[in-house]
Amino acid sequence: AVKTEQMYEGKAKKVFRTDDPDLVIVSYKDDATAFNGLKKGTIVGKGVVNNKVSNHMFKMLEKEGIKTHYVEELSDRETLVKNVKIVPIEVIVRNIAAGSISKRLGIPEGTKLATTVLEYSYKNDELGDPMINDYHVAAMELATKEEMETIADYALRVNQIMGAYLKQFDIELIDFKLEFGRYKGEIVLADEISPDTCRFWDSKTGEKLDKDRFRRDLGGVEEAYEEILRRLMGA
Ligand code: C5P
Repeated sequence: AVKTEQMYEGKAKKVFRTDDPDLVIVSYKDDATAFNGLKKGTIVGKGVVNNKVSNHMFKMLEKEGIKTHYVEELSDRETLVKNVKIVPIEVIVRNIAAGSISKRLGIPEGTKLATTVLEYSYKNDELGDPMINDYHVAAMELATKEEMETIADYALRVNQIMGAYLKQFDIELIDFKLEFGRYKGEIVLADEISPDTCRFWDSKTGEKLDKDRFRRDLGGVEEAYEEILRRLMGA
């Protein structure tokens, strides 16, 4: 596929059309934002890490039977993916309390949740991605009941597979966000899986190896991203 015009520029990625209408190229940027775009910065090398980590995860998940948008890594920052239509729902899976659930429900960070928690947010920048449930999804016709069953099943399976996979690298999967797309009538896992979209804590020391280092000004941001890439791929 040959890259043609830019289709879209998001906070962390650009998407380009190709000469094949079924395929697009995503290009990962070093730009970092937090708190719905209120905090802006650059994390040098982030685009490369997120591209490689995402592709590594998608390939691993495909082997486990999860359908994803991944097609082929083209370069350090660019990947060929299926031209999906994104379902405007952010799917969050939580194993251990951190971030917004700790704030909202008063559960101290690091508390193991008695059961996995699945949350949905309506993907809408102006509204600040408000939390919604299956009734809101149905009322707004964001997805069908069947699609939501597939999405929930995929999200919980991704949690199982990824949680077990990361343990061997001494990485604890605290929580993460997924996005899904529609492609030729099927739901497929899309967007990215990276230190931008997951909370990764060192299993032994509890050290944060994810975007919280940027959000909370903890320092060592670039090093944390590089460390995740090194543990997964030995880079
Ligand atoms: O902020 P909160 O605790 O709700 O985030 C839960 C998880 O979802 C974190 O891993 C965070 O990185 C991810 N997330 C995301 N994009 C958002 C909101 C949350 O990747 N817009």
